[in-house]
Formats: sequence, structure tokens, C-alpha cells
Amino acid sequence: MSAPNKSYDPVEVSALQPEELDRARDEALAAIASAADLDALKRARLAHAGDRSPLALANREIGALPPQARAEAGKRIGAARGAVGQALKARQAELEEERDQRVLVEEAVDVTLPWERGARGARHPLTTIRERMADVFVSMGFEVSEGPEVEAEWFNFDALNFKPDHPARTMQDTFFVGSEDTGLVLRTHTSPLQIRSLLTKPLPVYVVAPGRTYRTDELDATHSPVFHQLEGLVVDEGITMADLRGGIDAFVNGMFGEGLTTRMRPSYFPFTEPSAEVDMRCFVCRGASAEPGGEPCRTCSSEGWIELGGCGMVNPRVLVACGIDPDRYSGWAFGLGIDRTLMFRHGAEDMHDMMEGDVRFTLPFGMEI
Ligand code: DAH
Repeated sequence: MSAPNKSYDPVEVSALQPEELDRARDEALAAIASAADLDALKRARLAHAGDRSPLALANREIGALPPQARAEAGKRIGAARGAVGQALKARQAELEEERDQRVLVEEAVDVTLPWERGARGARHPLTTIRERMADVFVSMGFEVSEGPEVEAEWFNFDALNFKPDHPARTMQDTFFVGSEDTGLVLRTHTSPLQIRSLLTKPLPVYVVAPGRTYRTDELDATHSPVFHQLEGLVVDEGITMADLRGGIDAFVNGMFGEGLTTRMRPSYFPFTEPSAEVDMRCFVCRGASAEPGGEPCRTCSSEGWIELGGCGMVNPRVLVACGIDPDRYSGWAFGLGIDRTLMFRHGAEDMHDMMEGDVRFTLPFGMEI
């Protein structure tokens, strides 16, 4: 028998008694099981597995046992601490999982909720295309000019050589402002800008005039009482019909692409002489749809040509009405439909879409055209 260990203190090592260890372990396991959240578990860990926990203190007492008792005690305490460690780990995983689930639910973002920011608008494609059409002429040195929509009959008709009995001058076609004898109309075309330009600008004149125009048409898929035109006017010395053709061709190439030809068909307008309707080659099929066996083309209805508008050489009577010597000056003019251009250039099929201002129509055009 070895001598009793000097430091063997039966009171102190009571912590190592099997019942004491079981009690400490059970308390620890109960505290862990009842920890409702990660903070509570942290406190339980400190109290039951920390440096000052009963099991840790008991572990330190092993050294006080007689050597032959140490292994036995070590095993027991190791088992108790192991059980507590396992329980802590399992509960930690459980509580973390619970927390993650809760965060997922509580912090979820409902992407279907209405958006508070105001929707972004868009420029109307008629505005954008009007600027682009005018820009092609600006790049050739033309000036942009604008005028009133409520126009004197004299500018809208008389000075443009419309005779007093011209059918356009009746209420059938024209909106009069007030009664027919006020002499005021909603301009039926942008051609009065020819007169306004010639009366106010020094010669030579190279202007384009885009603007809103009015006629008593019913609104349907292809007509509207309010529509838009682009007027062009050149008055200079030595201007011929070749300049007219060149100007129109340059516009077509600038607006629709290089290499597209134009053609003119004789027509009549009181303010031009000679007058013509001008067509351009279809920029989609380039005429192929009109050839035998050609694929059908929606843009030109398989005509091969697209009608652009009216044009001609400025009637000398117009020059005279504006006090310009027709023996010295000559000019050319044209008028194009802006709405029509938007329709065939972009496949917009219904005039209503252009009038209603629905952003679902305007947005896809973007800011450039
Ligand atoms: N003002 C004409 C219209 O509204 C279009 C037009 C034709 C304008 C020939 C012109 C032109 O300048 O030369 O139908």
C-alpha cells in the first residue's frame, strides 16, 4: 500500500464524486436544452463549460487525487465534459439554423411590391424623328424656322397662290378660328412658313420648318385632324430643279441610308411650278419586292417605292407676293409628313398610338431614332 497522498483532500475532491459529476453534467445538459436563443446558449456555455464551470473546476482537482484514482476520475470527467461539449455543439447548430430561417423570412424583399419612384418618361418619337429629319438639312446648312399654328389665311392660302375659290379654303377641309370671316385658320400645312421666311429673312434663304398642322379629317388608323409636316425652302440665285433633286436625294440618303434613289411624278400645288410628288426607293427591300418572284415587303406594300411628299420649284407668284424679283431669284420647296415618316420608317401602324401619348408606345423608341 502506498502512503496516503498529502494533498488528498476529501472535501475538495468531493467534486469528483460520480454523483456530483452526474449532477453537474445534468444541470449543464438541462441549461443547454432550455437555451432559447444563441445568447442564452452563450451564457449556458460560460456557466457549464467555461473555465469556472463546475466541470472545469472538478477537472482541476484530478491532480489532488491519489495517482491510482486519477485515471478513473479522468475518464468520468472526460465523459461528462464530452457529453456537455456535444450537447453545446448540437444546440448551437440548431439555434443557428433557426436564426437563419428567421432572417430569411423577416428580411425577405418582396420584389412584387409597387415601386415608389416615379416611372421614367420618354420623348415622343414624333419629336425625336422631327429633330432628326430637320438635322439632316441642318447638316447641309439649312436653318430651322418655326411659326404660329393659328395662322392668317393670307399666309396659309393667298400668298401661296391659292385662288379664292380653292376647295381647301372651305370649312370642309380647314378649321377656321371663329367664323369663316375672321381670316384666321389653324394652319393646314407648314407652307405658310415659306412666306414668313421670305418676308423676314435676308436672301438667300435655306430653311426647314417642322410643325403641327390641322385638317378636318376624322381620326382613324392613317388620318388625324392634327398631324405634323416638315417644310423645306431654298431661294437663291440660279437655283434649278437639279438642286431640288439633289436636296431631296441628300435627305433620303442622310435619313434612310446611302444609295437609295428617288423618283418624281408630275403633280400640282398652287405655290410650286412645276410641282411633283417624290418617292424614294424602299429602304427595306430596295425594290426587290416589286420584281417578279420578289419576297413581299410590308414597308412599301411591295410597291418598291415609298411616297415621301410634295415638292417643286417655287412659283414666281409666291416670290412676287413676298417682294422678291423672280427674274433674279428662283427656288425649290418640299413638304413631308412627319407622322407618315415615323409610320413607314418604324412600322408604327396606327395613328391613334401617336396621338394617345401612351408611354408603352413611346418608350421602346428610346431617346434616339
Ligand atoms: N403643303 C403641301 C401639303 O400640305 C405639301 C407641299 C407640296 C409642300 C409641295 C411644298 C411643296 O413645299 O413644294 O399638301
